[in-house]
Amino acid sequence: MTVLVEIQDRIALVTLDRPDKLNALNFATIDRLLDLLDAFEVDDRIGAVILTGAGDRAFSAGADIAEFAVSVRAGSAVALRDFVRRGQSLTARLEAFPKPVIAAVNGLAFGGGCEITEAVHLAVASERALFAKPEIQLGMVPTFGGTQRLPRLAGRKRALELLLTGDPFTPEHALELGLVNQVVPHGELLPSARHLATRILRHEPSAIAGAIAAVTRGLNASIAEGLQIEAEQFARLAPTRTLADGLAGWLARKEISASRSATCHPAG
Ligand code: COA
Repeated sequence: MTVLVEIQDRIALVTLDRPDKLNALNFATIDRLLDLLDAFEVDDRIGAVILTGAGDRAFSAGADIAEFAVSVRAGSAVALRDFVRRGQSLTARLEAFPKPVIAAVNGLAFGGGCEITEAVHLAVASERALFAKPEIQLGMVPTFGGTQRLPRLAGRKRALELLLTGDPFTPEHALELGLVNQVVPHGELLPSARHLATRILRHEPSAIAGAIAAVTRGLNASIAEGLQIEAEQFARLAPTRTLADGLAGWLARKEISASRSATCHPAG
């Protein structure tokens, strides 16, 4: 088994489990992740997903070079089908997943490991994490969305510097780029990711899904289309009982605090 799953407190902890290969993403691992996401989407026991890597060295060293080299030797059509489309499907699925996905980057996040971090909704990095876009050293471009999402996150010139040099970069630099949300001591990595998930899980799943959909789809649209997407997400939530209860609860709390302060400070 290349991926481990543990469910606790409505959080699915998914661990890439090929530590002897630095959790390189072979086809079986990608297919397993896609199957798991299909299952998680319809499982009401799961509200959020945390993705991490097994072992003490890597989150993931990227696509499995030994495996995809075979596809490349078989020609572009095979490589596009077996390798590129498969990897792009994974990162697109993570990006648009309706429940929050948080990367807990425990070590090396090279190539596809970095692209997963770019695609997920939120990321926490250990102080021991190290990122890189090393594909240029192999004579290729990133193929799991890495030429598209990093420039959107970090800006064109900062992304191109990393894509064109292939140089590794620190978790602190990843934080500056907006690639991760937090950098934490190694021992606090999973607790921090869980804490982040728990803060989100206080809220209504449909509102969470609406915010993710509006941001993800809107980022790749014009501002006018993005505003339309936002309005559609609101329209989907407007008739729900949850929103009616949320608004009524807030108004009732205001009324109580207003009547309390009127009692404490009687006019005149
Ligand atoms: N694909 C397949 N196997 C990989 C891999 C990858 N992306 N990254 C590491 N491995 C394997 C190594 O082959 C080695 O396995 P082996 O002992 O059976 O030969 C094992 O993981 C440990 O890696 P190793 O290279 O010995 O570790 P290192 O500390 O010397 O170097 C890296 C670490 C990350 C610098 C190096 O493994 C590397 O360059 N990996 C490829 C990164 C990359 O280009 N990713 C993008 C692919 S498109």
